[in-house]
Amino acid sequence: MRYILIPLLFLVFGCKENYQLTEAYDRGKEVYITNCISCHGSNGAGNLLYPPINSRIANAMTLERAVSLILQGSQNMPSVDLTDQEITDVLNYIQNSWGLEAEIIPIDSIISFKSISKNAAIYP
Ligand code: HEC
Repeated sequence: MRYILIPLLFLVFGCKENYQLTEAYDRGKEVYITNCISCHGSNGAGNLLYPPINSRIANAMTLERAVSLILQGSQNMPSVDLTDQEITDVLNYIQNSWGLEAEIIPIDSIISFKSISKNAAIYP
């Protein structure tokens, strides 16, 4: 029985995770289309003026940078007014599009990156 139960548990929990990613991905795609696609393009490849985001984002450092750019903008990128959930969703979308694959980013990570980026704004 144990030999059946253990793979079964993996299957159930494995599916749950994929399901959450699918949901986040679908919502994130909408956020991307509304707020990001005009500059970064439908395949994340950017163009002459705007940088590609379809390859370099897949690590924690650039995630931090992404959160900070979204919230505060930079000289070249305007800040985008998104909820924590929308930021989480759009970054999950980006990290799992265009041939990229990554672990799902939980909303808690975004909230903690956010506080880092807030501190950065206070002490630039
Ligand atoms: C008006 C154009 C514009 C819009 C809209 C825009 N961006 Fe950007 N984005 C830029 C520019 C320009 C940069 C480069 C900024 C810099 O280096 O200072 C950038 C940089 C980035 C980077 C870092 C890329 C790297 O390799 O350093 C990420 C990630 C990113 N944008 C994500 C997003 C997301 C997600 C959205 C939508 C929520 C978005 N951007 C909306 C113009 C835009």
